[in-house]
Amino acid sequence: MTDRADPPAGRSLVIDDIGLLVTNEPALGDGPLGVRRNVALVVVDGDVISIEPTGAIGDDRIDAGGRCVIPGFVDSHTHLVFAGDRGDEFVARMAGAPYQAGGIRTTVDATRRASDDELRALTTARRAEAERAGITTVEIKSGYGLTASHEARCLHVAEGFTPHTTFLGAHVVPAEFEGRTDDYVHHVCTEMLDAAAPHARWIDAFCEVGAFDADQCRAVLQAGMARGLGGRLHANQLGHGPGVQLAVELGCASADHCTYLDDDDIEALASSDTVATFLPAADFSTRQPYPDARRVLEAGVTVALATNCNPGSSYTTSMSFCIALAVRDMRMTIEEAIIAATVGGAAALRRPDLGALRPGSRADVVVLDAPSYTHLVYRPGVPLVHRTLVGGEQVHGPPAAR
Ligand code: NIG
Repeated sequence: MTDRADPPAGRSLVIDDIGLLVTNEPALGDGPLGVRRNVALVVVDGDVISIEPTGAIGDDRIDAGGRCVIPGFVDSHTHLVFAGDRGDEFVARMAGAPYQAGGIRTTVDATRRASDDELRALTTARRAEAERAGITTVEIKSGYGLTASHEARCLHVAEGFTPHTTFLGAHVVPAEFEGRTDDYVHHVCTEMLDAAAPHARWIDAFCEVGAFDADQCRAVLQAGMARGLGGRLHANQLGHGPGVQLAVELGCASADHCTYLDDDDIEALASSDTVATFLPAADFSTRQPYPDARRVLEAGVTVALATNCNPGSSYTTSMSFCIALAVRDMRMTIEEAIIAATVGGAAALRRPDLGALRPGSRADVVVLDAPSYTHLVYRPGVPLVHRTLVGGEQVHGPPAAR
């Protein structure tokens, strides 16, 4: 691969004086991250066009001041559209109470009471927080409406922020269907799907004791897939179950959580295109054990890291925190964790144009206030994102000094 794509057509932006650039393209530089030193990134019409020596000329210029530049994080699992707060539930958990799927109903009540404008404002604030954390792409699930009209309006809010909207009507059985799970699943597969599908790219279900079993999840995903939605699945979060095998059987793009995996699950993932998406901030906030990512990586499975931002199990937009947990507690190398939070997330969303900074990639760029990406783990909890650009447009950071 050369350092240059097609000749530039529009106005060019040069991100100059990059001390260390993570391209995520091993052929372009050193090590698994394809690292280059003392370079400039040239962007035209929102895409990376070339990597040049420092001092390259363009119409517009951002001075990276010798900092480290990495691809923007691709957060492939969030639940950003919700109202209300479950801080008390978190405090109780820290005192020893278990996490239970039923807590989702608390957020359903608050979300149903919120107006569209309130939901939009809350989501705007969370998306801005994520941009400050270096997240340049988000997937957003519904799942806190749980009626046809509430699911549709939550997805309608979500599609104002991302094309990666996911219908999660099978999140939990709402109170009005208590004891009638099969009736609720039928409702999800028919009336609710009719209302949600025009606003969704993906379909998801929560395969877990206390939520939905394998047959119910299979029915929901197959109904969505028959309408052209791609499959994803919450699998093996709170205990070992059939979720991962089901995700592979159905050709889902991603099996999410994967906290409890046995050898058969890992083998199934390794022989499939299904990405194993780890959500370590949820394991942190629910006091679950962390999965052993080493075993999964060594089996050849594609791995993603995502924040799972939601009010119950993981109220964070910090991908850096997830990366630090993955390295500290899941035995991933720093490089593997960066790849999982960028290229891995892009694979989980089937977006090969995202997650890298090579000619032809979308210019989703994070300038770190650090000389190396290793500081994301070395300096845990410190907000190191200096600038965030999405498609070459700055969405966070100081005005560009020329
Ligand atoms: O991915 N597990 C299911 N859904 C979310 C939690 C939702 C909630 O507790 O509100 C998750 O962890």
